[in-house]
Amino acid sequence: MKTAITEMFGIEHPIIQGGMHYVGFAELAAAVSNAGGLGIITGLTQRTPELLAKEIARCHDMTDKPFGVNLTFLPTFSAPPYPEYIAAIKEGGIKIVETAGRSPEQYMPALKAAGIKVIHKCTSVRHSLKAEQVGCDAVSVDGFECGGHPGEDDMPNMILLPRAAEELKIPFVASGGMADARSLVAALALGAAGMNMGTRFIATKEAPVHDNVKQALVAATELDTRLVMRALRNTERVLRNKGVDRLIEIEREKGRSLKIEDIHAEVAGVYPKVMIDGKMDAGAWSCGMVVGLIKDIPTVKELIDRIMADAERLILDRLAGFLGAETKAALKVA
Ligand SMILES: Cc1cc2nc3c(=O)[nH]c(=O)nc-3n(C[C@H](O)[C@H](O)[C@H](O)COP(=O)(O)O)c2cc1C
Repeated sequence: MKTAITEMFGIEHPIIQGGMHYVGFAELAAAVSNAGGLGIITGLTQRTPELLAKEIARCHDMTDKPFGVNLTFLPTFSAPPYPEYIAAIKEGGIKIVETAGRSPEQYMPALKAAGIKVIHKCTSVRHSLKAEQVGCDAVSVDGFECGGHPGEDDMPNMILLPRAAEELKIPFVASGGMADARSLVAALALGAAGMNMGTRFIATKEAPVHDNVKQALVAATELDTRLVMRALRNTERVLRNKGVDRLIEIEREKGRSLKIEDIHAEVAGVYPKVMIDGKMDAGAWSCGMVVGLIKDIPTVKELIDRIMADAERLILDRLAGFLGAETKAALKVA
């Protein structure tokens, strides 16, 4: 399939694997890129720029296809050394960066000078337009359904994507709630040039996380995510577990006076406990509503091949099937 996104990034299929803390290691990024999508290493999971450089080198050893690096601009006072991370990305020969969180404006000159294409992930039309204005090449439009940080507008993709299509000049992919061929075809119909998946890629053979995580995703339904940290205006969609139940109880008690210190135990240092040790009740970790659509743990290639084959059938059989005989004859579809 050819879209503005496959052309821009030099990939075969319009499918991107979004950066994921403690999931987006070289193994997953390489598997996605080898299967014709765009794999992405999560920059800040590597604690230093030197470690990121090593992870990039490891990924180059596993694939000769294009892959990217995610740089999440966190709302923290002690910011990571972003210029050094960007230097590691540049020296690692990376040509695609997925930015997220705050606007990448400050870092655009450095990224552009290195010939890097920037796709910024954001949850609203206004932030998408800002990304376009500051020189991003594409946007990943992340709806309310998404795993991770859906922003504070609560705008589902059924509205957000066509609104983005009305306003943006640069291409965009649909992110949040994407799992299969139905998601891809719907995203294309709503104006996107591809899709970005997070949660779905965790339930794959190559995702380098504890098997408990994959089994939890298969077992969970679309009713099993919760929004936390709304009172801090740092809303995150997470998979429900005992730690999250505790967190929600604290949020109820504290109300609008909630401070990050009140929930430190349920949000800090949780990712290694869950993703490496498989401790599923450790606390808050991102997970999308799309978990309700995850029923198996295929290889990344099986997943992507299935999506592309089903998408063709969906378009040619189901959608073309709704057309009248004359239209079909004119379009030359059976
Ligand atoms: C476990 C997990 C960790 C994530 N970590 C990050 C991150 O560090 N940076 C980021 O930009 N997005 C992160 N995301 C968001 C994903 O890149 C992607 O935008 C999101 O998962 C899309 O929604 P979906 O889960 O419905 O596919 C994370 C998502 C998950 C599920």
